[in-house]
Amino acid sequence: MTRSNLSSADQQRLDGLYARLLALRPRNVGYPTNQDFDFSELFRFLEFSINNVGDPFHSTNYRLNTMEFEREVLEDFARLTRAPEGEWWGYVTGGGTEGNMYGLYVARELFPEGICYFSEDTHYSVAKVLRLQHTRNIMIKSQADGQMDYDDLRETLRIHRDVPPILFANIGTTMKGAVDDLAKIRAILDDLAIANAHIHADAALSGMILPFVEEPQPWCFADGADSISISGHKMLGAPIPCGVVLARKTHVDRIARSIEYIGALDTTIAGSRSAFSPLMLWHRLRTLGEEGLRAMVRGCLERAEIAVRLLRACGIDAWRHENSVTVIFPRPPKPVMEKWIIAPRKDIGHLIVMPHVTMAMIEEFAADFAAAMQP
Ligand SMILES: Cc1ncc(COP(=O)(O)O)c(C=O)c1O
Repeated sequence: MTRSNLSSADQQRLDGLYARLLALRPRNVGYPTNQDFDFSELFRFLEFSINNVGDPFHSTNYRLNTMEFEREVLEDFARLTRAPEGEWWGYVTGGGTEGNMYGLYVARELFPEGICYFSEDTHYSVAKVLRLQHTRNIMIKSQADGQMDYDDLRETLRIHRDVPPILFANIGTTMKGAVDDLAKIRAILDDLAIANAHIHADAALSGMILPFVEEPQPWCFADGADSISISGHKMLGAPIPCGVVLARKTHVDRIARSIEYIGALDTTIAGSRSAFSPLMLWHRLRTLGEEGLRAMVRGCLERAEIAVRLLRACGIDAWRHENSVTVIFPRPPKPVMEKWIIAPRKDIGHLIVMPHVTMAMIEEFAADFAAAMQP
């Protein structure tokens, strides 16, 4: 095996990067990337050029793969998203964006003339995906709390009743953690007698929260979703961006068929796909188990609630949605933004209480915020 012979100058550069990342990790309170994991049991698999090219449910000539583990991961996610037994398909993606792209691709193949409806609070990447696919689309107003404005949706759908809708629902918006209510969306479609529609659920963060709470908002296959995308590196945690996308099998079969026609069963968006990501997701699911996941989510929600109270006690107008780890407040002053890794948008900022965000970090953040507000 070829051994590395990095120069001492280059070695120092790596040491410098390592030290910088170590220092920054406990400052990340604004982005939903769990930093609390241990994959040392998987390091030895970095010895191989493994690749999950192609459909995880079909054989492939490239046998250095982890598709058996990928299928187990998908089965777990199918259970968590209440996918119809034996009637779903999916794969491990490179992240939430690819999963959303896949859901919108399936929808567009089903309804080539369809119009996609998404709210103002939708992740910025979705408009780009729709542009790439040349899918007609209309932005729907958002309510102040970040949910889709259902009246605006109803009115807009009514005007375009003759065109099949592709509904892009946020299951936890990026800034406010708001969940678009699938039951309300389905009721509007029923009211308008629209039978042909595709609902894609972007559950990047909350797809790994809502399966573990007592009273989840309607969000999953059982509530009417046709496809769901969840990020792996967010709540579950991974050092390499990854995710899972699932869709009703009948919808996917149409795509598979159309591609078989040109000679390949190429059902995924990317050709070469990470074989390491399914191992990481599998390792997290197996080491935590369902009870461990539930406890992890419960802990985050509890600390998020304490964070709201702590910030409010300091005179900061903080709030959060039910079942959300995202704590919203007015955009923090500059010194707070410089010390902490925070994602601002216009006049608001947020703290996302992930598993690595401890009470000590929350207290320090609240104290810094309060001090920076002093005249
Ligand atoms: C609601 C939502 N959707 C999609 C994405 C994109 O996910 P990813 O970064 O995994 O591609 C994000 C990322 O923050 C998000 O918040």
